Amino acid sequence: MSVKSSGQFSSRIGFIMAAAGSAVGVGNIWGFPTQAATHGGGAFLLVYAVLILLLGFPMLMAELMVGRHGQTNPADAMTKLANKPLAKKIAKSIGLVSIITATLICTFYSILSGWFVSFALAPVAQMANQAEVAAWLMDFSISRNLVFTLLFITLVIWVIRQGVQQGIERWSKRLMPLLLVMLVAGAIYILTQPGAMQGLSVLFVPDFSRVLDTEVLMGALGQTFFSLSVGTGAMMVYGAYLNKRENIAKLTAYVTLMDTSVALLAALMIIPAMYVAQHNGVQIFADDGSLLNSDTLVFSVLPALFDSLGGISQYLLAIVFFSLMTIAGLTSAMSIVEVPTSYLVEKTSLTRNSASLVVGAFIATVACVIVFNFNELFGLIITITTERAQPLIALGIAIYLGWVWHRNSLLAAISQQQGVDKDSYFWRMWPVYVKFVCPVLICLIIMQLFLG
Ligand code: PHE
Repeated sequence: MSVKSSGQFSSRIGFIMAAAGSAVGVGNIWGFPTQAATHGGGAFLLVYAVLILLLGFPMLMAELMVGRHGQTNPADAMTKLANKPLAKKIAKSIGLVSIITATLICTFYSILSGWFVSFALAPVAQMANQAEVAAWLMDFSISRNLVFTLLFITLVIWVIRQGVQQGIERWSKRLMPLLLVMLVAGAIYILTQPGAMQGLSVLFVPDFSRVLDTEVLMGALGQTFFSLSVGTGAMMVYGAYLNKRENIAKLTAYVTLMDTSVALLAALMIIPAMYVAQHNGVQIFADDGSLLNSDTLVFSVLPALFDSLGGISQYLLAIVFFSLMTIAGLTSAMSIVEVPTSYLVEKTSLTRNSASLVVGAFIATVACVIVFNFNELFGLIITITTERAQPLIALGIAIYLGWVWHRNSLLAAISQQQGVDKDSYFWRMWPVYVKFVCPVLICLIIMQLFLG
């Protein structure tokens, strides 16, 4: 993220990198393949692709637009859209819920990212012939989870305090393309292995009877918003740092394209890799055909994939891959931490530094509670935040943009953008679409939860 002292991104590419950095993360490499594997492969992929286009893209634009108009934290940005006292109050509550949601997301996100850190270190231990250490790093345990969750949170806070321009932005620009190259190479390699074709057909041949399954729909809805970081205020905060002249539709298109490509590439590598691993004797499915340990699926499949390369290259590739993932997680976690931090800085007398420490300490405490009660809490927090809160917050944003934000003010925000013709078909349709179609779509899917 590159924010000038005036609170603006220094360049277009700086914004794209920060927003794509927020979008591309654990959700792409862990979340998407895991969801696709648990929810019927092709059926999930199909629903997800449709939802990204129909909901993810227009809602990401909406969130950025509201954030840029507000130029402040999500609670106040939402409030600025309304004129009447009651509407202002509700707006503020939606903003506050998004801040709480972001904070909670950061807890499980840090546990997950911690796994990527420990898996980046495990091959180092293996090369040093420290088998016991390597086993501790790779096996699921409270002690390992605790150490690496806290380490990751410390890393996030440290990077944020370091000044982000110099660090993360520069590194992401160089390293994210490398991640892409590794994913492409990984996918190509795995597709040449025996068993891979079965995975490929699971991924690309949808079972149409499952397309309207409640679980598939809810999973895809949550994944759409989670992957694009919509409905947590993260993009609203980044929008607040965005220049009024930038064309939000274009920027959103870049970010959505990058995010979806990385998710697809990850699935192209991991789903076939599951079947290759199974072919090689690793147990992936239980006897009834369901997935074993879906949360940790990626963490058994990927090392198996690297192992199959043999020699020293298996360790090096594992180190590089998991380090890149750690960085992808870091740029996402930074955008999440920015949500409560920006609120505290504006609402209290805390400096940025102290606010980020307070937020970090709070997240660390809640994350520890989750680590100690993993089976009860981990999945629950993910479901509550990503499948319930994020869609509802997005619904609130759509309703406020469509029904509450004064038309002239929205039109002014649209026209200020350079090279934008507010009378073009796209810019006339988008507010209408967000006003009518987005709320109906979100409501329909949520209703399915109660009816299905
Ligand atoms: N989009 C990120 C990912 O896919 C996670 C995230 C969610 C980031 C919400 C910010 C806000 O990993």
